Amino acid sequence: MKAMGALLMSLALSACSAEDTPSTIDYSKLEVPFQRLASDDARGRGRVLFKKKCALCHGERADGNGARREGLSGKPINFHKKEWRANATPLHLFEVLTEGKRGTSMPAWPTMSSEQKWDVVAYVLSVAEDGP
Ligand code: HEC
Repeated sequence: MKAMGALLMSLALSACSAEDTPSTIDYSKLEVPFQRLASDDARGRGRVLFKKKCALCHGERADGNGARREGLSGKPINFHKKEWRANATPLHLFEVLTEGKRGTSMPAWPTMSSEQKWDVVAYVLSVAEDGP
């Protein structure tokens, strides 16, 4: 049942990206570096990148309260929220960082390497573990 859900999910995602973006990347086929995501080193590097690039909107503490949170299209996510975390997969985050979110102020990050993006994903996913 779980595998079925994941399959439907990835079908839905790839259908979306084929329609909405000219991207040729099939995100459902990327390999998730689970060891990196669990490593304190990667989370630490991701935290530094986050403060530099993301805190302006998402807040220094990743709680959605960045200095520039007003007047954006969409509301910067509070990454401490369990409801958000429950549906956040590493691949989805990697895709959002690579493509941005259409129709919102969430930008794409073409200057970040894959390694840097995974480090940021490691940090963002670790935030919810610390509680609100
Ligand atoms: C200019 C402001 C801005 C900056 C800078 C920014 N974001 Fe966002 N981000 C947003 C907004 C607004 C949303 C909400 C989009 C929506 O309505 O779905 C968002 C959404 C997200 C989401 C949630 C996507 C989802 O579908 O659940 C993630 C993950 C994310 N941002 C990560 C980051 C990371 C990591 C960085 C730094 C590399 C970053 N953002 C930088 C404004 C920003």
